[in-house]
Amino acid sequence: MHQQKIEAIKSAIEAANAASQDELEAYRIKFISKKSVVGELFAQMKDIPNEQKREYGQLVNEVKQLAEQKFQELIEKVNSSSKKSKSTDMDLTLPPTGIAAGGIHPLTATRQRIIEIFERIGFNLSEGPEIEDDWHNFTALNFPENHPAREMQDTFFIEKNPDIALRTHTSSVQVRVMENQKPPIRTLSPGRVYRNEAISARAHCIFHQVEGLYVDENVGFADLKNTLYHFAKEMFGKETKVRFRPSFFPFTEPSAEIDISCLLCGGKGCNVCKGAGWVEIGGSGMVDPNVLENCGIDSGKYTGFAFGMGIERIAMLKYQIKDLRLFTENDIRFLKQFRPML
Ligand code: PHE
Repeated sequence: MHQQKIEAIKSAIEAANAASQDELEAYRIKFISKKSVVGELFAQMKDIPNEQKREYGQLVNEVKQLAEQKFQELIEKVNSSSKKSKSTDMDLTLPPTGIAAGGIHPLTATRQRIIEIFERIGFNLSEGPEIEDDWHNFTALNFPENHPAREMQDTFFIEKNPDIALRTHTSSVQVRVMENQKPPIRTLSPGRVYRNEAISARAHCIFHQVEGLYVDENVGFADLKNTLYHFAKEMFGKETKVRFRPSFFPFTEPSAEIDISCLLCGGKGCNVCKGAGWVEIGGSGMVDPNVLENCGIDSGKYTGFAFGMGIERIAMLKYQIKDLRLFTENDIRFLKQFRPML
């Protein structure tokens, strides 16, 4: 009768397990403490007839030893597994979180996107110097001798040499390309330009333009319009409309300013477009025959179109940036927003 009960307790002890401190404590209460099943066996000693006391005592002591031995084992097991989990806090099977990569400056990203769009329709890239001579920046482009753009207020001249200036537009690259290549010419010239202007939210003395030039037989104004329609849709979205406003540049005839429908209000009028529904992105026109001749291209055989757009302008519209100065301030809070998602 006792024997059966004791065997049952033994097998319960053998089957017992513990994986945490709480479970260890539960084991201790059940098998070790005074009120445990083992403690109870000792308490029952007094009811055992004298002649059986010896045998009973032996059995109960065995159970007690077994319970304590098991308790030690469980303590070791729980301690070592909690140590183990501490040392593997770092899960080596997790994918890496990635390195904090730098972002691409919004002007670089915009220039890159513009280049992509025009390269796909057959434009190549060309460039010219930022320190330019009068011929390439003005004279070859049909600027009359007394044109106001040549004046000190607009142009940074190099002291001691009035023939040298920081280029005021990328149109100077048109001249360099036409002097050196025969039509057909389809080229895109992005670059930095300089104007003597006070720095504000809308103007800067250093900014970027991208020039486009297309010279071949039978190039017409329709080609200019279609090319820029295509560009606007690719750059700003399918719904974007383009408007050409009559204008004047010494190097194009006829000339037109390029407007696109305001991206924010879709043409209804808002504070970005100042209620107009349209925003200007650059100038354009048919290359003036005088310019072709100045560069050694037969204006009887060839015609061409050209355009020049402000990269800052395009980036500001695309990313809704309200102040031009942000591009050059290197404020990490601004630049961070253009970081690629990792
Ligand atoms: N160079 C002109 C400017 O800076 C833009 C332009 C380029 C206009 C090509 C017509 C053709 O304003």
